[in-house]
Amino acid sequence: MSELENNAENGSTESAGGHAAGDAGDDKGLGLGVIFFISAFVVCFLSSTLLFPKLLYSKKEQPFNFNHALHVEEAGDCEACHFYRDDGSFSGIPKMETCLECHAEEPLGVTEDEAVFVREYVEKGKEIPWLVYSRQPDCVFFSHAAHTEAAGMDCVTCHGHIGESTSSRPYEENRLTGYSRDIWGKNIFGIKKNSWDRMKMDDCADCHKEETGHKGYCFQCHK
Ligand code: HEC
Ligand code: HEC
Ligand code: HEC
Ligand code: HEC
Ligand code: HEC
Repeated sequence: MSELENNAENGSTESAGGHAAGDAGDDKGLGLGVIFFISAFVVCFLSSTLLFPKLLYSKKEQPFNFNHALHVEEAGDCEACHFYRDDGSFSGIPKMETCLECHAEEPLGVTEDEAVFVREYVEKGKEIPWLVYSRQPDCVFFSHAAHTEAAGMDCVTCHGHIGESTSSRPYEENRLTGYSRDIWGKNIFGIKKNSWDRMKMDDCADCHKEETGHKGYCFQCHK
């Protein structure tokens, strides 16, 4: 009796199962479609955000790490190294001459970075071939004085917090254009959260429009 009941139960579950399987069969097409869509999306998304930048940009290390935080403390302020010359032009990255104001004597520290600095550049009397993250194409004219002196802008607005960093990040070069990645920005979709995330033509022009009401003539920024 109990066996019969069992069979009957099994039978009913089977038929219920069969029915359910039929439903699942219809869903399967849809389910597979959704899974296919999601995986295709994930593959495209990952390759555009992870793989594409890897292919598009080549990383180059700076000659050695430069510790801004330490040096700003030692030197007092940014102008000790990044100053305006008497003719009004911006000195940019300091030359060896400025480093030697403190580093002419025996090594000041014991780090590997300082060893490289002393061995490769101080002792050989060679300038350090720094890579400039914000380097614009040759056709672009940019003047620091117009921005930081005349308009009173802060370095952070365009460069971010490099002045507080304790080591140098790698320089990334676009393999197609040869430009620094800082122009297009870190975000592969060009999304920008901070004023310093990107420095394309429109970023310059947008701020000019905001500040002066017009985008400027081409020859304002092009040589
Ligand atoms: C105002 C003085 C001063 C100037 C100018 C200066 N330095 Fe230094 N630097 C120091 C002192 C002091 C230390 C050692 C700090 C310590 O290790 O305690 C140091 C340490 C270093 C180190 C090792 C630090 C680390 O954390 O690895 C490097 C590399 C270095 N300096 C490079 C430079 C370069 C390149 C320049 C020129 C652009 C320069 N310094 C200009 C004072 C100066
Ligand atoms: C002791 C000298 C020294 C001082 C002081 C100093 N810097 Fe620098 N700065 C350098 C050197 C050397 C480099 C090149 C290496 C690098 O990019 O880290 C540099 C690079 C930079 C760059 C990178 C430009 C680019 O696009 O590649 C910025 C921005 C900058 N400094 C801002 C600042 C600010 C802001 C301060 C003050 C808070 C400051 N620095 C103080 C020596 C100095
Ligand atoms: C309006 C944006 C803006 C502001 C503000 C600004 N910079 Fe720059 N900076 C740039 C651009 C753009 C470049 C690249 C210029 C080029 O390639 O001709 C640059 C280049 C540099 C370089 C490399 C120069 C070279 O040619 O070797 C240094 C160093 C630097 N800036 C430091 C500073 C410091 C320090 C301040 C604050 C006193 C500052 N910048 C303020 C936009 C700015
Ligand atoms: C966050 C705001 C801002 C950004 C970003 C900016 N600028 Fe400017 N720029 C100004 C202001 C403000 C002035 C001064 C306007 C004036 O002369 O009335 C100015 C002036 C100039 C001038 C005119 C100098 C003169 O005396 O005629 C040039 C050239 C210029 N910017 C180029 C650039 C370039 C190239 C970039 C991008 C790499 C850039 N600027 C990014 C705000 C900005
Ligand atoms: C506010 C400054 C500014 C003005 C005004 C401006 N540009 Fe630009 N332009 C730039 C900067 C910065 C770049 C480099 C970054 C980039 O590619 O976006 C650039 C890049 C370009 C490029 C690409 C060059 C290359 O080597 O990649 C062309 C072409 C160009 N500009 C044409 C123009 C024309 C045409 C005008 C006038 C309608 C104009 N620009 C006005 C700042 C400016």
